[in-house]
Amino acid sequence: MQKAVVAKVGDYTVRRCEPGDVPVVMNINMTTLPEHYTDSFYYDILREFPEMFLVAELGGEVVGYVMNRIEYGFSYLRRLGLARRGHIVSIAVKDEHRGKGIGTALVLASHEEVARKSATECYLEVRVSNEGAIRLYEKLGYRKTGTLEAYYRDGEAAFVMATRIAR
Ligand SMILES: CC(C)(COP(=O)(O)OP(=O)(O)OC[C@H]1O[C@@H](n2cnc3c(N)ncnc32)[C@H](O)[C@@H]1OP(=O)(O)O)[C@@H](O)C(=O)NCCC(=O)NCCS
Repeated sequence: MQKAVVAKVGDYTVRRCEPGDVPVVMNINMTTLPEHYTDSFYYDILREFPEMFLVAELGGEVVGYVMNRIEYGFSYLRRLGLARRGHIVSIAVKDEHRGKGIGTALVLASHEEVARKSATECYLEVRVSNEGAIRLYEKLGYRKTGTLEAYYRDGEAAFVMATRIAR
């Protein structure tokens, strides 16, 4: 069956994650990020938000992923009021495939999918020391909207970063 392609970047394809991709996604997460999740966390997000759990693939190999969910809560961008928000829960690209626009493509594809669900903003948490990722997000219009002290298990703080998205 044809896989659900959502974007192309060079020879890489961005498509929807399928249940069979989850072990590879988990492996990429384990080798690239200090924050890990249980199997059921991944499968639950995939079941609930299948259109916004995306992978980047090259020649049949999954080399990156992004997981999003939709939430409803206080806007990170307006002073008052509630908003339907897309939340980038986790994103990673395998080391040897970085710097080729895959992270950018995964975030932009996330925005499109999240906007389709009528969300008006997208946000994420990022380690304050993760300069590369912060630069990527700033390049895509995100700004720091707050700091969560001791957000991570090792005590590091997180920036909350958010951007407006439009359909
Ligand atoms: C962050 C990450 C997803 C970026 O993926 P990527 O495919 O390399 O990103 P892109 O190639 O689209 O980079 C886009 C821009 O982001 C910035 N950027 C990305 N990584 C960077 C780094 N290590 N240092 C400086 N800038 C960086 C650059 O401005 C880059 O644009 P440029 O290539 O024109 O200079 C990837 O580095 C990664 O998986 N890191 C480990 C996991 C992680 O930190 N995830 C984020 C958690 S919040």
